[in-house]
Amino acid sequence: MHQDHYQDRIRHPGLLGKVMSAAEAASLFHSGMRVGMSGFTRAGDAKALPRALAERSQQEPLELTLITGASLGNGSDGLMAQAGALARRMPFQVDPILRGKINRGEVLFIDQHLSETAEQLRSGNLPGIDIAVIEAAAITASGAIIPTMSVGNSVAFAQQAERVIVEINLSTPLALEGLHDIYTPQPLPGREPIPLTRVDQRLGGTAIAIDPARIAAIVITDSPDSPSNALPPDAETQAIAGHVIAFLEGEVKAGRMGPQLLPLQAGIGTIANAVLHGLIGSPFHDMTMYSEVLQDSAIELLDSGQLSFASASSITLSEKVHQKLMDNIDHYRSKIVLRPQEISNHPEIVRRLGIIALNTALEFDIYGNVNSTHVCGTHMMNGIGGSGDFARNGQLSLFVSKSAAKGGRISSVVPMVSHVDHTEHDVDVLVTEFGYADLRGLAPRERAPLIIERCAHPDYREQLRAYYAKAAARGGHTPHVLQEALAWHVRYQETQSMCDA
Ligand code: COA
Repeated sequence: MHQDHYQDRIRHPGLLGKVMSAAEAASLFHSGMRVGMSGFTRAGDAKALPRALAERSQQEPLELTLITGASLGNGSDGLMAQAGALARRMPFQVDPILRGKINRGEVLFIDQHLSETAEQLRSGNLPGIDIAVIEAAAITASGAIIPTMSVGNSVAFAQQAERVIVEINLSTPLALEGLHDIYTPQPLPGREPIPLTRVDQRLGGTAIAIDPARIAAIVITDSPDSPSNALPPDAETQAIAGHVIAFLEGEVKAGRMGPQLLPLQAGIGTIANAVLHGLIGSPFHDMTMYSEVLQDSAIELLDSGQLSFASASSITLSEKVHQKLMDNIDHYRSKIVLRPQEISNHPEIVRRLGIIALNTALEFDIYGNVNSTHVCGTHMMNGIGGSGDFARNGQLSLFVSKSAAKGGRISSVVPMVSHVDHTEHDVDVLVTEFGYADLRGLAPRERAPLIIERCAHPDYREQLRAYYAKAAARGGHTPHVLQEALAWHVRYQETQSMCDA
């Protein structure tokens, strides 16, 4: 083991004796336990324990309830799911193997707004955590944990778990210390407002303070986070970015915001990353982000000088951009802060700061309801993540999507969404590569023609017009032909295409 390196990362002398192998630490787990692990969109996740738990589960399935910040990297979710280590999983995942198990009903998944998990644990609405596994850059002299590339739900897990296992990751620079702002909301009832009024404000300490006596094991690792798997921008995502920028330019021109805009949130994935990337070279400057994940695009906007500060709960980057950040961490530390996800996504703060929320839809309907999670209404993709935290509470809520998926066989604009994550009440602007529909102040009968003409793929417009005409003739505030509202999804399941031609 890395005898030469880890001593200066375990500054509490009483904890040096807790160093053990991942297999030894895995023996502390029992079947049915509730486990909280660090990790948020592949960043700052525990690297060794997931593998050790998967190995242990090959002999005796552990059937754990696993709660994290968001998704894990390193194929950890897949490894654990495959080995039978997981019975229940929350609040978010993106792993294809785990997704398969969830959709076969073999792992039970609880899809939750990311701001809510910590509060639900604290209040006892969810049963307590038995063991927390937290990746750290170091442990301070007082036994506090310095997180790595995400904070996620680690504060809640470390504070509440009966026992804590710390994974010290030697590949993370010690200079990460100071990047994090660890603040926990006061107890209920009688909680005072969370005193954050500026994106770059710091509220708490830089490490997660816990009683060191609860640290049951320390495992030494040295693998970096899995790189981001967001694809580079393509013609369609660039067109989407162009429409988002045109909309925002209109807001500035109308005097509703200045050229610095309002703080931006951008969701995960290829499209959101491409949209932010499109802001490079745009007329906006002195922008800020109050988001949950920072992707490559955020670092590039910091580098272009257009973004002055970025607050989030995790940083998920490609290898190249990750290396640049690590090599220049002292520079970036003054421009970035990582917070617990209950603070990065807190409804009170999102509303107060007036966030512009940019999230991605799988599909949306002609009235503005958005499905971000369920393919054909039944099969889980990833989860709602933080999109709901921001969409409902932001000043402006934009949803972007390509107008069609699977080579044009699926229309992303449908008569009725097959699952609703964001209701028409939470959605202000819809954007595809064909244009944007500004829904603010519009009634359902005004929304439908606008969404069809501005956002739908031309191959599906006539089909949508025909549906809306038939529905509108039948009457109603939000007209539908109920027998046909989900027929597009049924047609796709039966013929592999939503097209009725
Ligand atoms: N029906 C079926 N599949 C669809 C679809 C639809 N209507 N629309 C898109 N897809 C498929 C795509 O074909 C693609 O499949 P592939 O991986 O097999 O190629 C996949 O969904 C991803 O779509 P893509 O267009 O590449 O977009 P993305 O990478 O930006 O992901 C979401 C889009 C919606 C899956 C993703 O943004 C998400 O999980 N969002 C919910 C969580 C969230 O918003 N968090 C934000 C705060 S972090």
